Amino acid sequence: NEIYFAGLLGIQPTLPMSYAGWEERARQALPPSVLSYVAGGAGDERTQNANVTAFDRWGLVPRMFVGAAERDLSIDLFGLTLPSPLFLAPVGVIGLCTQDGHGDLATARAAARTGVPMVASTLTVDPLEQVAAEFGDTPGFFQLYTPKNRDLAASLVHRAEQAGYQGIVVTLDTWITGWRPRDLGASNFPQLRGHCLANYTSDPVFRATLDKTPEEDPRAAMLAWVQTFGNPLTWNDLPWLRSLTDLPLIVKGINHPEDARRAKDAGADAVYCSNHGGRQANGGLPALDVLPEVVAAADGLPVLFDSGIRSGADIVKALALGATAVGIGRPYVWGAALAGTDGVVHVLRALLAETDLIMAVDGYPTLADLTPDTLRLVR
Ligand code: FNR
Repeated sequence: NEIYFAGLLGIQPTLPMSYAGWEERARQALPPSVLSYVAGGAGDERTQNANVTAFDRWGLVPRMFVGAAERDLSIDLFGLTLPSPLFLAPVGVIGLCTQDGHGDLATARAAARTGVPMVASTLTVDPLEQVAAEFGDTPGFFQLYTPKNRDLAASLVHRAEQAGYQGIVVTLDTWITGWRPRDLGASNFPQLRGHCLANYTSDPVFRATLDKTPEEDPRAAMLAWVQTFGNPLTWNDLPWLRSLTDLPLIVKGINHPEDARRAKDAGADAVYCSNHGGRQANGGLPALDVLPEVVAAADGLPVLFDSGIRSGADIVKALALGATAVGIGRPYVWGAALAGTDGVVHVLRALLAETDLIMAVDGYPTLADLTPDTLRLVR
């Protein structure tokens, strides 16, 4: 309403109102290496693109005489009441996407202003404690890239607990970086990585592994980080991860129903269906296509979803296919690039306004009304 009434008064919105506009403006705002890092994906990016077009195969069927004047988008997740099912997926090195180089703090402030939770990456530019300090009353989650050094993994998790994070998201699909031609072609990509060590260089366990402090010898710190970064975990490691914390444990990167079943059996509190926005492996199914099977196998466990969400309509479709909560990556990165905290808030409000209006117009006033029956395959 605010936007329409402003339009009637002749006030032009200063930021674009849809994904295409956010991306186009961000392309002008970002340095080429950062742009290709964010926009790019694995291989020739077919999976990344298919994540988006998968939503076109589903159509929502409106219902009438519902009187959906009041909508309720709130969800309960791990005992937390959240105002909407939307969340900010973890994005490493997002700090570089804002003018001041503190994009993680900008995103955390947007979470504080909107109530939309942020999942802070292990690869934040500012340490996890400083990010959490900006969350206000909005709960936050910490995403763990599990290092080979198990004491370091435990230290990161305990720091997240101490800092007040409400859950640990363990990303399973990125113990090694995928084949990303755009990054391989951007000669200054390694410099991006130098900006993502804050959670390591601020960690006592990591520092104790170094001969000289990271301040004295940043190159040695970088090499130590490269060596410990990715741990090719197996199912045998899940009990160990589980033992690290009493916080909710969410496993990210689940696409196969059997993996969802095993995660549940091993005590995960939620599965997170995602193919990393198509950044890790090309040639895969769109994440949306595997969502229903993962939801069925999760058998009542919450299912978080991301990869390809570009609009409120996409959010509604993912919810109808069984997602408990829906994450966005690139859309809010473009918002951060456009206008920092205000840009992220703008993107979140636009997506939530469209979600809410679709639920109103289509006659689905609550999230419980969004079932697979609200969708039909487009012929
Ligand atoms: C990511 N993603 C990601 N995931 C994660 O678990 N830890 C991380 O540090 C990152 N870093 C990261 C950087 C950038 C630039 C992007 C675009 C993405 C993946 C992210 O959490 C999410 O799965 C995807 O972004 C979702 O797809 P869309 O919304 O970008 O299509």
